[in-house]
Amino acid sequence: MKQMTEQNMINAFGGECQAHMRYLRFAEVAAKENFPNVSRMLIAIAEAERIHAFDHYQELKHLDTGRVANSMAAFGPGNTAKNLGLSIAGETFEIEEMYPTYIETAAFQSERSAERSFRWSYMTEVEHRKLFQKAKEAVDGGQDVTLGTVHVCDVCGYTLEGDAPDACPVCKAKKDRFKAYEAV
Ligand code: FE2
Ligand code: FE2
Ligand code: FE2
Repeated sequence: MKQMTEQNMINAFGGECQAHMRYLRFAEVAAKENFPNVSRMLIAIAEAERIHAFDHYQELKHLDTGRVANSMAAFGPGNTAKNLGLSIAGETFEIEEMYPTYIETAAFQSERSAERSFRWSYMTEVEHRKLFQKAKEAVDGGQDVTLGTVHVCDVCGYTLEGDAPDACPVCKAKKDRFKAYEAV
């Protein structure tokens, strides 16, 4: 793998791992603050980030030495209002800067498989930001978010509220590859 794309993949793996853990922590805080739907949304999105991390990690199977991952964007824990603000900021960084740059670099370097892994994540992050914006609006008004079943594609991480599609719009996986996060 070309060096620039390889370092970008390492960074993306680091960022997705941290997003996974951060959202699980945010989910605990949301549950404690009595926002059960925000908590469920965070658990579903954390799973999508885990899938992104796994997909990127698979692209690095040729490596056998330690490397430094620079994850950038989104940090320290707070209450749910702050955590959702950080979540929006993190997804926005991925959508507007990180993934477009990584996709362009991978395309320029003819690293097709890496380009696909970055693109799958990029398309998912766009949906994550929408969900987080909806949640933040509710929490800023002192309410839990109104949320139907959330589905996550276990191949690419694509996340949506509502029924699972017959085929994933991002990776074309069949309906049975979607995991449901239902209201309790
Ligand atoms: Fe992600
Ligand atoms: Fe995301
Ligand atoms: Fe998918």
